[in-house]
Amino acid sequence: MKKRVKNNVFWVGKVDWELQKFHGNEYSTHKGSTYNSYLIQEEKTVLVDTVWAPFAEEFVDNLAKEVDLNKIDFIVVNHGEVDHSGALPALMKHLPDKPIYCTANAVKSLKGQYHQHWNFQVVKTGDKIDIGNGKELIFVEMAMLHWPDSMATYMTQDNILFSNDAFGQHLATEELFNDLVDQCDLFNESIKYYANILNPFSPILRRKLAEITALNLPIEMIAPSHGVIWRDNPLQIVEKYAQWANEYQENQITVIYDTMWNGTKLLAEKIAEGIRFADEDVVIKVHNLAKSDVNDLITEVFKSKTVVIGSPTIVNSILHSVAGFINLMKGLRFKNKKAAAFGCYGWSGESIKIINELMENAGFEVLSEGYRNQWHPDDDAQKAAVDYGKKIAQF
Ligand code: FEO
Repeated sequence: MKKRVKNNVFWVGKVDWELQKFHGNEYSTHKGSTYNSYLIQEEKTVLVDTVWAPFAEEFVDNLAKEVDLNKIDFIVVNHGEVDHSGALPALMKHLPDKPIYCTANAVKSLKGQYHQHWNFQVVKTGDKIDIGNGKELIFVEMAMLHWPDSMATYMTQDNILFSNDAFGQHLATEELFNDLVDQCDLFNESIKYYANILNPFSPILRRKLAEITALNLPIEMIAPSHGVIWRDNPLQIVEKYAQWANEYQENQITVIYDTMWNGTKLLAEKIAEGIRFADEDVVIKVHNLAKSDVNDLITEVFKSKTVVIGSPTIVNSILHSVAGFINLMKGLRFKNKKAAAFGCYGWSGESIKIINELMENAGFEVLSEGYRNQWHPDDDAQKAAVDYGKKIAQF
């Protein structure tokens, strides 16, 4: 059932309450998600984005109950990823000749995925379409936020920015607006989304935020493609993005490790004790990587000024969980963060050297050669780990 966003703008998307993983199994969505599609019924009838492919038939059936599909004048595709374009093949069977307004790169992504030659109409930043009743849609290219094909669409008079993935959150809710949901959930899902999806593109985002600000468009609502619509102080999320895009960190040190026989785990806990001893203000978090959600851990890394990484040495290398997590951090291109290594070993003891190399290669400033301990930590080794924690706190 459609829900009114404002005046003649309606939400016609899908709430996916049971979604637990997104992007295959790459991104955890503990609180589900929504795929937001918007129906604009001015003199022109316009559909902005659709929903994920598994819900395509349901989406088209529901949409047909709300509007005569033949009355849809055109479709705006802000982004070609399948969670927003997945219902296009089912929808376009009903309107095969209707224009699809999108970026040049979206033509490529849509053709590449659906192999259809729909009536694509390429738009660029500043292009406008009159939708009647004195209202226009203005397009703003958002390349690499987060795909090359991404764009946002601004609706004049109602002053709504349809921002697609930017400013979204994976949060299933029947509520439409930001002021109606749990604010902790909203913040946690917003920052997790930024850290895990948008962080690599922070320099582009900084420029784009400046460009949007320079357009001087009044923004009364920001309507993303996932989660709630920002209507209460909508610029609060823009301000947050401005902070997050600027080499964000809090006064936090996060210790992340994996362990085989709990020696490296004991070092992690002693290092945390040492950090606390040396700095009573810093937030310290300790996570066993093998027992943690990696996307939640990435959010902790995003908030950290220093990440302390531990692995025992195994067959002259490190545990694959640690190697994989460092690779994930590398892809997310964190800036202005420090790193330190630790780990237990029995014979060769290369883990700290390998961790340091990988962390440096991932863009972190490595603070020291690391701390390693042969066999299970005795009292002296535990004290040395505490001292290593104190040293990390003082860097
Ligand atoms: Fe980039 Fe929500 O898709």
